Amino acid sequence: MPKKIILDVDTGSDDAVAIMTALGCEELDVVGICCVWGNLDVEDTTENTLRLVSALEKDTPVYKGAPTAIAKYLERAVKEDLKPVVKDGKEIRIHYKRLEGLEAETDKRAEEKDAVSFYIDCLKNTKDKITVITVGPMTNLGLALSAVPSIAENIEELIIMGGTDRLGNVSECAEANIWHDPEAAQIALNSGVPVTFVSLDATHSASLTLEDAKKLRELGTFSGKFTARIIEQRTEFDSAFCGKELDRTPVHDSLAVCAAIDRSVITESERCHVRVALSGIADGRTIIDRRDVPSESNCVFATKASHDKYMDMLLKYLGK
Ligand code: RIB
Ligand code: CA
Repeated sequence: MPKKIILDVDTGSDDAVAIMTALGCEELDVVGICCVWGNLDVEDTTENTLRLVSALEKDTPVYKGAPTAIAKYLERAVKEDLKPVVKDGKEIRIHYKRLEGLEAETDKRAEEKDAVSFYIDCLKNTKDKITVITVGPMTNLGLALSAVPSIAENIEELIIMGGTDRLGNVSECAEANIWHDPEAAQIALNSGVPVTFVSLDATHSASLTLEDAKKLRELGTFSGKFTARIIEQRTEFDSAFCGKELDRTPVHDSLAVCAAIDRSVITESERCHVRVALSGIADGRTIIDRRDVPSESNCVFATKASHDKYMDMLLKYLGK
């Protein structure tokens, strides 16, 4: 029987690859896609998701979710926008307001129910436990778990693309998805749900190359070609951002989906206790307890993945 999942996205370039991977995989049954603010405003992440699901000719329900973090911006009034970099006088971005290469319009609309209500109703009423995969800020799930804590009992596993043990991206300490809504992540950790982090360290260890992009394009499918373009676009952005020519880029979110399908894509992980820093210079950092006598473990934290296995899986699921 396929594994039932809820996918929570802020689409978003690499989120698009996660959606295509999940919807291309017969071992998964995507019962709903929840959209959240993050890479872009929630109106845009929802619209991008709808257009993509429509292009894939799927009828998976899409739910619009939270427009901002649970607590963070009560203190800091204004959200910061992801800044573009300028290359040859042109602004380039890692996430464009609209995903390129999709129809300008779609008839597909978000469900009337909001994403938080969907989590609550779906998890209250499901017969089978559901795996939740979050690849954006965890606001929707954090709100749902706060409102109805008992829904945790029906979550088989929570797989989070987020957190870091070593690298940072949005700050020197933190990974973007956790940094955007650290309280939401901590609420999930406190909920008793089995949690696996697919961290920034793991996604960087399995970065996809321009060679990989070629192979994906050669599949000749919509998903293969779309992903190839995303790898190239992200590599161009990373190169301009770092000021040196790179040949690879981390495509974070689809690694979390692949980990839900086949855990052997993860090659290093530890069972440990994680707490999220909620303020200050380490805001949003996932802090692993490495004391001699650590607190009892509350998650599995993945730090390495197999590039080759990841690519094999993408070739399989994006080849349809
Ligand atoms: O840090 C990587 C994460 O931040 C990914 O989910 C990406 O989509 C961005 O939002
Ligand atoms: Ca994302």
